[in-house]
Amino acid sequence: MSDFYNKILERNKKWVEESLALDPNYFQDLAKGQAPPLLWIGCSDSRVPANEIIGAKPGETFVHRNIANMVIHSDMNMLSVLDYAVNVLKVKHVLVCGHYGCGGIMAAMKNDSVGIIDNWIRHIKDVYRLNHKELDAIEDETERFNRFVEINVIEQVCDLAKTSIVQSAWKKGQELSLHGWVYGLNSGYVTDLNVNFSCDKDLDDVYQLKF
Ligand code: CO
Repeated sequence: MSDFYNKILERNKKWVEESLALDPNYFQDLAKGQAPPLLWIGCSDSRVPANEIIGAKPGETFVHRNIANMVIHSDMNMLSVLDYAVNVLKVKHVLVCGHYGCGGIMAAMKNDSVGIIDNWIRHIKDVYRLNHKELDAIEDETERFNRFVEINVIEQVCDLAKTSIVQSAWKKGQELSLHGWVYGLNSGYVTDLNVNFSCDKDLDDVYQLKF
């Protein structure tokens, strides 16, 4: 077994011991159920850990992560997580958190084939195409990359608002807000992109569902 593999088993034991030292009922209480106020949709990148970034304890954040924090409306995994979060857990907030330096976004700006993931990245390329006027006008490549990261988050928040799950919750009068952030890998801080939805009135008419 590798050193790393053994190390993570040891770390788990240490974490359990430390947690129980602070609160002997810690795990028994957590096992009773969850009522997290937040669904986090983030990137799979190992440097963007959902709970740590916002200081969330176990039980506070329902999490879905994929490459480049995408909200793809035919992705059964994302839809199942969203449905469970909204309709069963009744989260009050859904947050899409992208990050500067995202490899998925970088891949979408380039033309190299990297395998089956090309088909996932294509969704991100669609976001570029929809916003190519603004992006192509940015000469500096790093600035263009950073803006693309931000635009992609904004687009994913809009895509969340378009889902039947979110619109149906709003129609029922459920309190549910959508937000978009970008995380800075080299600062640790998040930036709120101020893309907030709490009803369907800001959606293009063609996306507004009648129930
Ligand atoms: Co990423």
